[in-house]
Amino acid sequence: MTPLDELLERAVATGKFDDAELERLLALEEPEEIHALFAAAYEVKRRCVGTMVHLRGLIEMGNYCRKDCYYCGVRKSNPAVRRFQLSKAEILADARLADEYRYGSIVLQSGERSDPEFVALVEELLREIKALPGAPGVTLSLGEQSREIYDRWRAAGADRYLLRIETSDPELYAKIHPPECRYEERRAAIRRLREAGYQTGTGVMVGLPGQTVRHLVRDVRFFQEIDIDMIGMGPWIPHFQTPMGKDVVFSEADAERNLLTGLKMIAVVRLVLRDVNIAASTALQALDPAHGRERGLLAGANVIMPNVGGVEHRRDYQLYEGKPGLDENAEKTRRALEESIAAVGEQIEYGVPGDPLHYHRRIAAVAEKNGRKE
Ligand code: 5AD
Repeated sequence: MTPLDELLERAVATGKFDDAELERLLALEEPEEIHALFAAAYEVKRRCVGTMVHLRGLIEMGNYCRKDCYYCGVRKSNPAVRRFQLSKAEILADARLADEYRYGSIVLQSGERSDPEFVALVEELLREIKALPGAPGVTLSLGEQSREIYDRWRAAGADRYLLRIETSDPELYAKIHPPECRYEERRAAIRRLREAGYQTGTGVMVGLPGQTVRHLVRDVRFFQEIDIDMIGMGPWIPHFQTPMGKDVVFSEADAERNLLTGLKMIAVVRLVLRDVNIAASTALQALDPAHGRERGLLAGANVIMPNVGGVEHRRDYQLYEGKPGLDENAEKTRRALEESIAAVGEQIEYGVPGDPLHYHRRIAAVAEKNGRKE
């Protein structure tokens, strides 16, 4: 056995690595070695969460945003974006469609807003979506909010929340955000979500300018440290109307490298965190339209978030360039996914919310600990 085989065998059995070993895995370049890494991660996925794919119907509710992140195409100071906000009726129509498709869960995503009108809209939506016949799980992806707002939405029925840390390194964080976006506040918001009782997800962008393998190892340690339930990671893709993307020449080789680094991160996170849900992000698909997300599944991801909204505003919600499926309606997306998932030998699990097993294990562990105290 080669040293890599030995390392991967131990990885499958225990998931325990030191930082140097994680760095080594993330730095693999040889195709056969990368393949061995993905195969090991797939084995851990099979054992720890199984090979059924969970779908989350993604509804992009609106692109008004108070933030000005240097990487994001819908940042508030991009004047070229046509701003939109879907009405309650439009969002509910999309949610009904996801429910008819038996997707099992729905994600409401939007630019960051906290005005009372928006908070109330989300609250009303949650009550109505949870009352749909399939009682779908609902995930929010609505940015940094106060504990009070997180509590209100949780009370109205939200099950999960996604808030990426983007990078766990404070210095790199400061380089990709304007000064008013504070790393500590981001971390505190993720902590608040956990305290408010959400199944909590976070994640990072991979391939950021100045990001090294060391940063990525730190990201994995961050996920471990905060005991996260769900992970969504994707390659950074330059957007020409953003400070980070405007002067960048992004060659095919750059795209392939970011894609591969994204896939290696999925594999390493699966090896280390074991029973969490990991999304094969749309950004993977943007860089490899035919196979990006399926390659994510084979590297250890178990969740896909197909768009269920209409195509009317797809172009107005381009966080990065090359967003796939701009003209693809929800039905076409659904059929294409069925086929491509079957092609990699997996199946979609319909009609169940698909909670991260990690969440139930940590809740059970807390209950047991409390029981012992009595
Ligand atoms: N490339 C890749 N991902 C991006 N996001 C925003 N802009 C980009 C980009 N240019 C991601 C961020 C955010 C999520 C909704 O989209 O990680 O959290």
